[in-house]
Amino acid sequence: MKERTLAIIKPDGVAKNLIGEVAKRVEMEGLKIVAMKLIRMTKNQAKGFYKVHEEKPFYESVTDFMSGDPSVIMVLEGEDAIRKYRRLMGATNYKEAEEGTIRRDFATDIEKNVVHGSDSAENAAFEVGYFFNSLEIMV
Ligand code: CMP
Repeated sequence: MKERTLAIIKPDGVAKNLIGEVAKRVEMEGLKIVAMKLIRMTKNQAKGFYKVHEEKPFYESVTDFMSGDPSVIMVLEGEDAIRKYRRLMGATNYKEAEEGTIRRDFATDIEKNVVHGSDSAENAAFEVGYFFNSLEIMV
């Protein structure tokens, strides 16, 4: 099924000059980048984005990190896009990520883990709508 998912190159990924590397892996996987922007989130935007993690001990820290420096926000489209992009990223904890995944190759920290991707169709719809309006997404 053709799907859309939200992908973020987090501030550590942008700082490590990985924008091109992540975009290349996405395109090689056959996914289309249908929207893309470089933004610096405010603390409140980061808190709203990670609201599902509000009760977690890392909530303050991850929202500080995500609002500290610029990120690249993308909408990816394609068959099975959510699962395909999650496979490209690897596990949240880079130590558990499979070889050849973005996090295994580039992450050095469970929090500063280079990339984010929606984990379900429901969250993808929320996350895409959180950062993009319909006029910003190419059809
Ligand atoms: P992400 O896939 O964007 O979803 C939630 C984020 O919170 C996650 O990537 C990490 O950046 C961060 N995170 C998740 N688990 C932990 C943890 N145990 N310690 C610190 N940060 C975490």
